[in-house]
Amino acid sequence: MDRPFGLLAELTYRCPLACAYCSNPLELAAYDDELSTAEWQRVFGEAAELGVLQCHLSGGEPLLRRDLVDLVRTASGLGMYTNLVTSAIGLSPGRAEELKEAGLDHVQISVQADEPTASDRIAGIPSFERKLRAAAVAKDLGWPLTVNVVLHRQNIDRVAEIIALVEELDADRVELANTQYYGWAWRNRAALLPSREQLAGAEDVVRAARARLAGRMEIVHVLPDYYGEFPKPCMGGWAARQLTVAPNGDALPCPAAQTLPLPRASVREDPLGRIWDGAPVFTAFRGTGWMQDPCRTCDRRELDFGGCRCQAFQLTGDAARTDPVCHLSPDHAIVTEAVEAANTASRRDDEELVPRPHR
Ligand code: SF4
Ligand code: FES
Repeated sequence: MDRPFGLLAELTYRCPLACAYCSNPLELAAYDDELSTAEWQRVFGEAAELGVLQCHLSGGEPLLRRDLVDLVRTASGLGMYTNLVTSAIGLSPGRAEELKEAGLDHVQISVQADEPTASDRIAGIPSFERKLRAAAVAKDLGWPLTVNVVLHRQNIDRVAEIIALVEELDADRVELANTQYYGWAWRNRAALLPSREQLAGAEDVVRAARARLAGRMEIVHVLPDYYGEFPKPCMGGWAARQLTVAPNGDALPCPAAQTLPLPRASVREDPLGRIWDGAPVFTAFRGTGWMQDPCRTCDRRELDFGGCRCQAFQLTGDAARTDPVCHLSPDHAIVTEAVEAANTASRRDDEELVPRPHR
């Protein structure tokens, strides 16, 4: 069996922002009983024993955890590469210095758009200027900086300006990631899914920027899989290389897996190693034995692992079906209908986004 390479530690789902594309679960209140400092430190130890090399400290907003510096020190002391995934709200110069001293290796800051009005509207609070200041602090302290921008139909036409902003911030890497439709993003899909024309425009801009910035800044462009011929190899395969621990201690193969009708596994009840090896939520879709046709006999089954289990469940009600994004799926019409709706004359640009609530 493969060992996990990366741990996504979702320290809290509390967040000062209210992004309508948030992939956190809809039932946020169910995660209020957060793991304590000592529980997270034990989990990090168990993860390191399992072979985890990368620890992504995420949320919600991980800076809302008062013990973040202690948690970074523990993960770093165990030899894991530590990455802070943050909105940057709360990354003051003083806090940043403490995190640096504790061993934090990398900072990833989210930005919602290239200018304050749009960015603050999408984020739900005035935050743009604070993000820019925090990015400067991160660079001053010598961290490698990734800027993450979730793309959707309300900001994708500004990709050129977004890349220009990221250049100004002197980031080492930018992730231009089209929205993945889980959690709040799923609820807001009609208002977020871009049109073909928008995507083609963004691809042209990204291609030119990659050529211009080669060797200076890495540009990762994640296309919306609704427009692809084949699905993405979600998480590199179910329970193959990555695992997630939610704020309440639920252990999951991916951040959206709490939606699937599988028995819960909790780090409060079992050690991470035992969960990885044998918990039903991890073994259910590991490998290829669970596959139905057409995946079962498809040449690509070891390449994309049948796509995303959470998306298959969300769109068909059966997590073992082929991801409907695949053009070979018998359920592919579900996806083509959503795509056609995003490309009709009655574009739903003005549709109200339902913001994720602040907690
Ligand atoms: Fe991938 Fe299954 Fe589609 Fe084949 S049929 S390309 S394995 S999702
Ligand atoms: Fe859960 Fe893709 S998000 S398997």
